[in-house]
Amino acid sequence: MITVRAMEEADLDFIVEVEAALFSEPWSRRLYVNELRGEDRCYFAATQDGEFAGWAGLAVLAGEAHIMTIATLPAFQRRGVGRLLLAALIEAATAFQCDRMLLEVAATNTAAQALYRSAHFAPVGVRRNYYASTGDDALVMVRTLSEEQ
Ligand SMILES: CC(C)(COP(=O)(O)OP(=O)(O)OC[C@H]1O[C@@H](n2cnc3c(N)ncnc32)[C@H](O)[C@@H]1OP(=O)(O)O)[C@@H](O)C(=O)NCCC(=O)NCCS
Repeated sequence: MITVRAMEEADLDFIVEVEAALFSEPWSRRLYVNELRGEDRCYFAATQDGEFAGWAGLAVLAGEAHIMTIATLPAFQRRGVGRLLLAALIEAATAFQCDRMLLEVAATNTAAQALYRSAHFAPVGVRRNYYASTGDDALVMVRTLSEEQ
């Protein structure tokens, strides 16, 4: 069974260790700690049958919900973990009374784009050379929260 709960600082040793396997620009422990202790932030961890499977986080900036990160460990991918984490972020953004959610995703990251599209996010723009390490463009994707979807 997949369970989503609040992320804790105790999760960070493991998360920081696996970041580099999942992201071209891995976050540091300090960055995560600042996020977890920050205002208007909401971070989740997912477990499957008690094993750590993924994590995700949201920041509310100027009344809009920004997806800061979302990841599923390779061994747990394509089992619905990302979808459940994204649903938790959408629920949190709704609880923060945000009208819309947005995110940046690498133009080459078709898996994440498919996940977001399946949750009614649509591309609204491109940020050229957004990722310094790869030179990849980022797509900006947005979903409104005001209507039922
Ligand atoms: C993107 C990511 C979080 C998806 O997590 P996941 O747990 O595998 O996703 P789910 O199993 O919940 O998939 C939900 C839907 O997303 C889409 N999807 C997910 N992975 C996909 C892939 N590799 N190819 C195509 N579609 C994919 C599908 O529509 C899928 O539904 P389906 O399995 O019923 O077809 C995961 O691939 C990951 O951690 N990638 C590395 C980190 C990353 O890129 N994060 C996003 C940064 S913007």
